[in-house]
Amino acid sequence: IKVGVMFGGMSVEHEVSVITGIQACYAFDRNKYEVVPIYITKDNQMYTGEYAGVIEEYRNIPELLKKSQRVIPVKEGNKLCLMKYPMKKFGNNVYDYIDVAFPAVHGTNVEDGTLAGYLHFLNVPYVGCDVLSSAVGMDKYVMKAVLKDHQIPVLDCVVLNIREYNADTEQHLARVEARLSYPVIVKPINLGSSVGIRIAHDHDELLDALDYAFEFSSKVLVEKAITNLKEINCSVLGDYESAEASECEEPVNSDEILSYEDKYMSGGGSKSGSKTGSSGGAKGGMSSLKRKLPAEINGEVRELIRSMAVDAFKALGCSGVARIDFMIDQDNDQVYVNEINTIPGSLSFYLWEPLGVPYSELLDRMVRLALK
Ligand code: DAL
Ligand code: MG
Repeated sequence: IKVGVMFGGMSVEHEVSVITGIQACYAFDRNKYEVVPIYITKDNQMYTGEYAGVIEEYRNIPELLKKSQRVIPVKEGNKLCLMKYPMKKFGNNVYDYIDVAFPAVHGTNVEDGTLAGYLHFLNVPYVGCDVLSSAVGMDKYVMKAVLKDHQIPVLDCVVLNIREYNADTEQHLARVEARLSYPVIVKPINLGSSVGIRIAHDHDELLDALDYAFEFSSKVLVEKAITNLKEINCSVLGDYESAEASECEEPVNSDEILSYEDKYMSGGGSKSGSKTGSSGGAKGGMSSLKRKLPAEINGEVRELIRSMAVDAFKALGCSGVARIDFMIDQDNDQVYVNEINTIPGSLSFYLWEPLGVPYSELLDRMVRLALK
């Protein structure tokens, strides 16, 4: 089976996605799969070739692009055909044929249904969530609305729109303050990897946090910050019929909020994610994130979270592998779904290893779901 792993794209999580994509390329069982790396540039052009699958090449992207082949995907038969671009008037313009596309992208303009929609429109097999579940998963407000409708607990929130906010800032600050007490968390509505997120303890900090979040998105969400917080993440694999939950992890944060730096750049700094790191190892990318695996929670809470993760996955209609991030308010033991990552960093492979599912098998199961 020839699989086209697609990564990068027009997103603030571009670099993280390059790590996820190349890690996945290395992890496929080469006895079963032929892997074609497809790098999507920051303006959403696609390039392939042997250099596109080598992490070190991403230190100099202009040079990488010169050595690679730009391609345009089209459908031919039931395959994804990569056409060479620019096309030549004479000769063969086909670069390669792919059996299944494997999106390994994070963030807006790619993970939010954009790439799934592109592949769906081409009518080729692709791994993971469809357009709607991807789009709902990316919008933190819509996601909460859907989960609430399924009786899955989420934190109450206030949504602000940049135009209304700029027209009457104080009125909107008052609207937040009437509904929520400090401290509050301010988040761009549709970003991942903690980008644009700040905590505010008073009116002035709220103003700053909102201005900051609006730099990233035209809609911003404010919710009550849980002060005695424990974060737990759990991954789900399958589709509506077969969804099952992974081990639970507890991301360990030094600060009040895990920053982009904490999540992806700590442990060496360089983006060396070309090897599939063992869980918790410092081999780059998400694997360098400090975490407790398994999370220190009792069996009852673990099972509650695992079943809520499956419920949330089904409520959105997800498929493939997703990671559901939870918050526990340790003052009252209440568990909330915080967000759903429809294409999690490193595809959450490290959450499956403790259950005896190696990364290559996780990828194999994901591809089989797409081809079934
Ligand atoms: N959005 C990033 C990659 C994650 O949460 O896994
Ligand atoms: Mg995320």
